[in-house]
Amino acid sequence: MALYSDIVMDHFRNPRNVGVIENADGVGEVGNAKCGDIMKIYLRIEDDIITDVKFETFGCGSAIASSSMATEMIKGKPLSEALALTNKAVAEALDGLPAHKLHCSVLAEEAIKSAVRDYYDKHGIAYDVKQFPDCEHCGHCDSQCDCH
Ligand code: FES
Repeated sequence: MALYSDIVMDHFRNPRNVGVIENADGVGEVGNAKCGDIMKIYLRIEDDIITDVKFETFGCGSAIASSSMATEMIKGKPLSEALALTNKAVAEALDGLPAHKLHCSVLAEEAIKSAVRDYYDKHGIAYDVKQFPDCEHCGHCDSQCDCH
């Protein structure tokens, strides 16, 4: 059996939504300290709906496929659905990832959460921090923290 599904290979070879949104409403950047891969997500948000989303991923094929699939899954959706997106759902939509590559899909979940949080912060929208359980990894606070 092939290591990667046809869907993973398709999204790796022809990634959707690659690029940058100028003056994005929310931007999230996360990295995996172990492998050094980085993912950045840009959101355009109108009336609580993600009207456009783009990504830049400097990472492995699974991370690129995960970003591509995740952006497709949240485009046109309300923010609540984007926040509810799990890495498991992204991996399932890709028809699975090898066990040692599941962490690559975590980057997509975290980058989206980080971008939504950035949008909330920039627009002074109150939110429950419990919605962002992995925030210590999201890089969002790095600029405000002197411990790095
Ligand atoms: Fe780093 Fe896949 S090996 S995200």
